[in-house]
Amino acid sequence: MRKRKNSSKSYLKKSSREDYDYHLPVLRKEAVDWLITDSNGIYIDGTVGGGGHAAEILRRLASGGKLLAFDLDKEAIDYCNVKFSDELQSGEQSRLVLFNESYSKACSIENIEGKLKGLLLDLGVSSRQLDIREKGFTHRENAALDLRFSPSYQPAEALLAVAKEEEIAEVLRKYGEEPFARAIARRIVLIRRVVPIKTTAQLKEIVEYCVPKKFLNRSLARVFQALRIAVNDELNTLNETLNCIPFKLASGGRIVVISYHSLEDRIVKQAFRKYSINVKERDRERLSNDMPILKIFTKKPIVPSDEEIRNNPRARSAKMRVAERI
Ligand SMILES: C[S@@+](CC[C@H](N)C(=O)[O-])C[C@H]1O[C@@H](n2cnc3c(N)ncnc32)[C@H](O)[C@@H]1O
Repeated sequence: MRKRKNSSKSYLKKSSREDYDYHLPVLRKEAVDWLITDSNGIYIDGTVGGGGHAAEILRRLASGGKLLAFDLDKEAIDYCNVKFSDELQSGEQSRLVLFNESYSKACSIENIEGKLKGLLLDLGVSSRQLDIREKGFTHRENAALDLRFSPSYQPAEALLAVAKEEEIAEVLRKYGEEPFARAIARRIVLIRRVVPIKTTAQLKEIVEYCVPKKFLNRSLARVFQALRIAVNDELNTLNETLNCIPFKLASGGRIVVISYHSLEDRIVKQAFRKYSINVKERDRERLSNDMPILKIFTKKPIVPSDEEIRNNPRARSAKMRVAERI
């Protein structure tokens, strides 16, 4: 059985620059190799989590470099405040600024246009978030059906309490590619007439009722993923951000995105293509932007080595794509 980690604040004290207990970063070296082209540049880590990528970025930045790091999860920001306390103590001179905000806010940072040298997005959830029972990110623990990265969203239980049967089925189909979406949605609506669905155990029971045993684990993972994506509006946030960041990048600045499922990867692929497409193709597809502004480095995505997957099974679905501002 998965060991549940201590969720008290004392956990923060254990953090140190080399501590990957919070989250083992995926494609760490490769991502930062691609990201950093100027050690005195301004960079954004949009999903700082346990700061594994951020630590490597800071290690490679010179004194004139700057890292703006975002995470919706306050605990991730608290953790990084401790992890990077030495760096942060230098106040105004600090090369690191932490924001407990969505990475979409990167689009509205002032005076960054044409100066940004790179954006890193390492999407999905951290191991720490999966380990904290109260967040309800996994069906393996009974907890409140929450699934939010931040309290600014509505919890999953609120979504399941009000959404119509067809809307729930659509969420499960669209964000989870769940073949039993309709049956699960029907059951949710039936059960909630009798008792509100408030826990991960209740949802698990519903899925168990609707799905043959041999498909159960996959369906459970897909249903929880679908609800998490819907609750946190993950795909719209990604799409909107990838449609603004190319215009903020300095020439030669890069976007590096690590995604963990096909829906995310498709959005990254399409956004990169939209801004890199040549004039003839763009006319054919009736796209309105004037000139290609991105150069794509990864026709095929970069994936972790067998060795990395052996050491960190969570890395197995990772796909990394990189583009550069022309
Ligand atoms: C896979 S983890 C990142 C791990 C990190 N690269 C590291 O090395 O520890 C993904 C993180 O993204 C955060 N996140 C998800 N959506 C976000 C958003 N829209 N804005 C900011 N952070 C977000 C999650 O809270 C989580 O901490």
